[in-house]
Formats: sequence, structure tokens, C-alpha cells
Amino acid sequence: METLTLALLGGGTVGSAFYALVQERLEELHALGFSPRFLGVLVRDKKKPRAIPEDLLRVEPFDLLEADVVVEAMGGVEAPLKLVLPALEAGIPLITANKALLAEAWEALRPFAEEGLIYHEASVMAGTPALSFLETLRGSELLELHGILNGTTLYILQEMEKGRTYAEALAEAKRLGYAEADPTLDVEGIDAAHKLTLLARLLIDPGFPFAQVEAQGITRLTPEDLKAARDRGERVRLLASLYGEGGRWRAVVAPRRLPLNHPLAQARGNALWVRARPLGEAFVTGPGAGGGATASGLFADLLRLLSGAPGHLPAPRARPPLAEGSPWPGVE
Ligand SMILES: NC(=O)c1ccc[n+]([C@@H]2O[C@H](COP(=O)([O-])OP(=O)(O)OC[C@H]3O[C@@H](n4cnc5c(N)ncnc54)[C@H](OP(=O)(O)O)[C@@H]3O)[C@@H](O)[C@H]2O)c1
Repeated sequence: METLTLALLGGGTVGSAFYALVQERLEELHALGFSPRFLGVLVRDKKKPRAIPEDLLRVEPFDLLEADVVVEAMGGVEAPLKLVLPALEAGIPLITANKALLAEAWEALRPFAEEGLIYHEASVMAGTPALSFLETLRGSELLELHGILNGTTLYILQEMEKGRTYAEALAEAKRLGYAEADPTLDVEGIDAAHKLTLLARLLIDPGFPFAQVEAQGITRLTPEDLKAARDRGERVRLLASLYGEGGRWRAVVAPRRLPLNHPLAQARGNALWVRARPLGEAFVTGPGAGGGATASGLFADLLRLLSGAPGHLPAPRARPPLAEGSPWPGVE
């Protein structure tokens, strides 16, 4: 049996769940011929309670070059980039759940993604297939794509539909652990913009810049806006959309009014809806956050890697849109 040495960066919600999942799925890994061994788990504070043996915890960066795979679940951009780059340069594959890192540090990471060294299913919609769903879609040409890619804002909108104000719904989301103490990335649409950037690079342009995504959040929405939409037979959702306009692709995150009977309006979790040629329409929905759900995406990538398949390759070339999209109206 071959030893598989894993370096885990981050032992928080996602990192701890990934560690637990590897223990739970040991037999399966053994059946594939691999015996996993954790080289170390990078954290900031060794004293925090977590379900990872203390002797594996490291507070100082350790030598990732001894690893067969680096699994990154620490978050941020500069700190993880500094750690993963030397490993990638040494040809060590990276599995990551970190959409901010990929969206914002693409110039440095793109060559390694093009080599097939970066696996990041968990970075968009956690363990619900989003990247692999779109990979299969490469058999067709994308006409338009719309997604509910952020669970925090979905929860807030669902609460506001019950009559709560934005501030009340946000406070409840924080209390339940659905929103960070600083919720800016979620509520301003930046987290969804990070994810939309990754989807655009996978399907339409390998160099799609994060700065090209126009992001508007939900902070100005009122319960009256949601009620007015409901009275018109519509539902407001923060949509991340890719569509053609004036012969170029637009990538926009904005609250939009969807007809109630559309699958995106009916979705209870994160969701992705596409129209492509010749395929037609396709839709996937499921959890987009949570330790277990995200660890599932990381573990799927580990299995993909062990099967010998490359990471998530960006689109081979940029291509213009085939159609003019007609996204649903925004909320004024
Ligand atoms: N949570 C989700 O549902 C979810 C879903 C999809 C993707 N993601 C992504 O997964 C990543 C991790 O998210 P999370 O929710 O697990 O975050 P988290 O609970 O805050 O965990 C982050 C972990 O990384 C460690 N860490 C962070 N910065 C560090 C540094 N500079 N040096 C050493 N250790 C550091 C933390 O150490 P301490 O524990 O000592 O603080 C913690 O163990 C993020 O990129 C996030 O966007 C999360």
C-alpha cells in the first residue's frame, strides 16, 4: 500500500470536517491502494477545541514539500498563496475550497491550474457538483448561466420574505453561524462574484478577470421590495449571471426578480441553472456551505486526484457569446 501524505492548511469548520471524513473513509482509500497520513494541520491557535489530534497541529508553517497533496481550507488570499506557491512549483497538487484565493490570485495560480495541479470543486457550492456539472457542459456551448451561489444572502432573503428587515435577518444569520462577524463579502455580493469568476474561467475565458464582475449586494433591499415582488408572482434572489450583451460577456451579481415557477426561485439551497447549445436547459441544486458539505467536495477532489485525473482545467481559449442574454429584471 502506498502512503499518501496530506498537508492540511486550516483546521476550522472545513478543515476539521475534512480530517474527520478522511478517517471515516479510510477503508475506501485503502481499497484504492493508499494509506493516508497527515503531515500536519496548520492553525493559528493550538488551544481552540477541535476534533484533530493535538500532535498534528502546527502554528508555524511547515515544510509542504514533503506532502503528496496540499489541502487548503484556511481562507484569505496572501497567506495561503505564500504557502501553496512553492508546493505547486514543486509539482505538488493543491485541493482547495478557497474561492477568494483563486479569484484574486489567478495571475500566479493560472499556470498551475493549466497544468492540472489545482482541484477546487469545493470552492463553488461546496460538495454540490458545480464545476463537474459545468465540465460536462463543455460538450455544449454556453448561452447563459445564472446561479444562487451564496447561502448567507439566500437565508437573509428567505427571512425577509417572512417580513423581517434586512438588519433583523442578518442578526439572526449571525446568531445561527450562517454569517461571519464581518459579513461584507457575503452581503455585498463579493463572495458570489469570486465564485462567478471561477465559473467564467472554466467555461468562457481562462483569463476572465475578477475585476470584470459587476457586484451589487442585498443591503438596500427592504421587506416591501420582497412583498412587491411576491404580489407580482415573483421572488427576489441574489443571482450571479453570465450572459451575452452587445457581443461580449457580462458577469453580474445582483438581486433579481424571478418568476415563482422558475427552478432558481424554487431552490431551497445553492443552485445553478444554465442554457446551452445543443444541450438545452440544465439545473443543479444542493447545499453550498457547512463543514460536512464542503469536506465532501474536497474529498471528491481527492478521489479524482487518486484516479489520475487532472484538476479543474480552465477553458482552453476565450470565446465570444453566441446569444444575447435576457436576465430577469433587477430590484430598483
Ligand atoms: N465554511 C463553509 O461552509 C465553507 C464553504 C465553502 C468554502 N469555504 C472556504 O473554506 C475555507 C475555510 O473556511 P472555514 O469556514 O473552515 O474557516 P474557519 O473555520 O475560519 O477556518 C480557518 C482555519 O484556518 C486557520 N487559519 C486561518 N488563517 C491562518 C493563518 N494565517 N495561519 C495559520 N492558520 C490560519 C484557522 O486557525 P484557527 O482555528 O486557529 O483560527 C482555522 O483553523 C475558506 O476559504 C472558505 O471560503 C468554506
